[in-house]
Amino acid sequence: MSAFIVMLLCCDCLAGEEESVRWRALTEEHARDSFENLLFSVCRFRELTGSYPHNITVVSYDFKEERFAHLHRSAISFPESRFFYIGTPASPMSREAASKGEALVRAQFQEDPYGCISSLKGKKLGRDPFHRTIPYPEGCPEIKGLFRHCGTAPYQGSLPWAQ
Ligand SMILES: *[C@@H]1O[C@H](CO)[C@@H](O)[C@H](O)[C@H]1NC(C)=O
Repeated sequence: MSAFIVMLLCCDCLAGEEESVRWRALTEEHARDSFENLLFSVCRFRELTGSYPHNITVVSYDFKEERFAHLHRSAISFPESRFFYIGTPASPMSREAASKGEALVRAQFQEDPYGCISSLKGKKLGRDPFHRTIPYPEGCPEIKGLFRHCGTAPYQGSLPWAQ
């Protein structure tokens, strides 16, 4: 699962500049794809801090920006103005293959924004052969509906970060 560990940097939960980043960095280890990466991290943030993040910054490969900043962000209806993306360059060697793979995955998420109907679902299940229990949305009851949502249409329920 290590490919899908996300670090959450909680900026407003602790006072004191002497607190090092290390103590504010927490992990989410249950996500099986990039959409879950985002959704589960938001839930984990709520679980750990008691509130939802005001801003979200995703750090990942630059070629995944469109996927995160557009597709996944829209799927959870997070305001664009509070969503930031820091892209790190992939090595030129892996770049070409990765970009091709990325185009395919992006197309899949375009058709299936919540990763729950197409081959994305099978891929996800394949990444969790032991069917571990996912502890969400226990810690984020306000967005339970979003966790349950599946389909091609955007989730219409209310969300704590709606503008
Ligand atoms: C959110 O991001 C904006 C723009 O960078 C910044 O001014 C603001 O302080 C951030 N808010 C929090 C709570 O981190």
